[in-house]
Amino acid sequence: MLDMSQDFRLFMIGPMGSGKSTVGRVLANLLGCSFVDSDAEIEARCGADIPWIFDVEGEVGFRRREAAVLSDLAKRSRVVIATGGGAVTTAGNRELMSEKGIVVYLDVSIEQQLKRTGSGEGRPLLAQGDREATLKKLMLERKPLYEELADMIVSASSGNARKVARHIQEQLSARSLLPPVTD
Ligand code: S3P
Repeated sequence: MLDMSQDFRLFMIGPMGSGKSTVGRVLANLLGCSFVDSDAEIEARCGADIPWIFDVEGEVGFRRREAAVLSDLAKRSRVVIATGGGAVTTAGNRELMSEKGIVVYLDVSIEQQLKRTGSGEGRPLLAQGDREATLKKLMLERKPLYEELADMIVSASSGNARKVARHIQEQLSARSLLPPVTD
């Protein structure tokens, strides 16, 4: 892993509705780092939203954009990066994340995912078919990837972003992985 005495970069991974952005933002605040959401960055660069990208370029096009954005974001330091739920399916992204930073997996139940993703709006993979069946299928495929990549696995089912972020901060502190103090 990276030498954290010089640099700090933390990737939040986990399924849709696990709270990667909400917890990531609170965590960045606690750590005095910046926060960036890779999906928001993809949309800003493309000038279109994610459903549009899936519609026009397919999932393949979206994954290409996602990999390019992640690779750029990984050049920043003192940053918490929330990734999209499927970022781990690209081997290059997994290599990048494990090489460039600390990876935190927010683990959440399918029930919580269903609640938090609501009608599935803005998430093309949930736009058709039975949302629960889709979430279960994706979890089956991706859970081994999340687990293998994670430096830290944190339960996010409590739904309290501040509590989850504090827990991550404590774990980082216990492992001497907090961001270096800057003057
Ligand atoms: C996806 C998750 C989404 C977004 C895109 C694809 C996925 O991000 O990247 O819709 O493959 O699970 P969130 O996990 O932030 O919803």
